[in-house]
Amino acid sequence: MRGVFVTGTGTEVGKTVVAAVIARSHAAAGERVAVFKPAVSGLDEGGEPDHTLLRRSAGSSQSDDEIAPYRYGPPVSPHLGAELAGETIERERLLDAAREAAHDADFLVCEGVGGVLVPLTLGYLVRDLARDLALPIVIAAAPGLGTINHTLMAVECARAVGLEVTAVVLTPWPNEPGVVETSNREAIERIGQMRIAVLPLIDLADPGSWPALSLSGGG
Ligand SMILES: Nc1ncnc2c1ncn2[C@@H]1O[C@H](COP(=O)(O)OP(=O)(O)OP(=O)(O)O)[C@@H](O)[C@H]1O
Ligand SMILES: [Mg+2]
Repeated sequence: MRGVFVTGTGTEVGKTVVAAVIARSHAAAGERVAVFKPAVSGLDEGGEPDHTLLRRSAGSSQSDDEIAPYRYGPPVSPHLGAELAGETIERERLLDAAREAAHDADFLVCEGVGGVLVPLTLGYLVRDLARDLALPIVIAAAPGLGTINHTLMAVECARAVGLEVTAVVLTPWPNEPGVVETSNREAIERIGQMRIAVLPLIDLADPGSWPALSLSGGG
């Protein structure tokens, strides 16, 4: 399976934006891109759901069920969303759905849920799924104060189970970065020994205006 698994330092840090820009970049290069998100929660809160933004970024015709097999209304961890809905998230169903999504595509962009240690069930975490899918990891993180620690913790948690961290993406990257952002970027690169990319503020409504971001293949 060719693709990337986009995770982050936590919730609301820019995973969907980063995943969308990666998906759009591969689609704009002529590849057939599929998207996948194991579970979506918080649908009750309104706004464009992650699976919809991912689909239009990739130019995909996948159904909601094909992109995100488990979808919940309350803004809670997926394991709790499932419990409140009276079901359990099943590893095999996720793996089947991800393989099915990848089947007719050249490239799969998978967005995790929350951070790497978020439970899909209490015995199956986001990083376990990333490992089962054998996809390299991209970590979305904020550029400002506090990000060195959060980002390096996410990197360590991924590497601890043998995952390859391809890049960290700092988002949204300011037009005029200050000393803190510049220093954070250098510190994470040096300590974490990985590639750092940055993504400026984009207009989510206009994929044609997005910068290219293709992070597969390491480097
Ligand atoms: N480069 C960017 N350009 C525009 N908006 C951005 C950018 N980076 C982050 N944001 C904004 O930050 C917020 C969180 O981003 P996003 O929804 O991608 O986070 P997430 O990590 O996927 O959240 P969740 O955990 O709910 O899936 C959104 O309002 C998004 O528009
Ligand atoms: Mg998201």
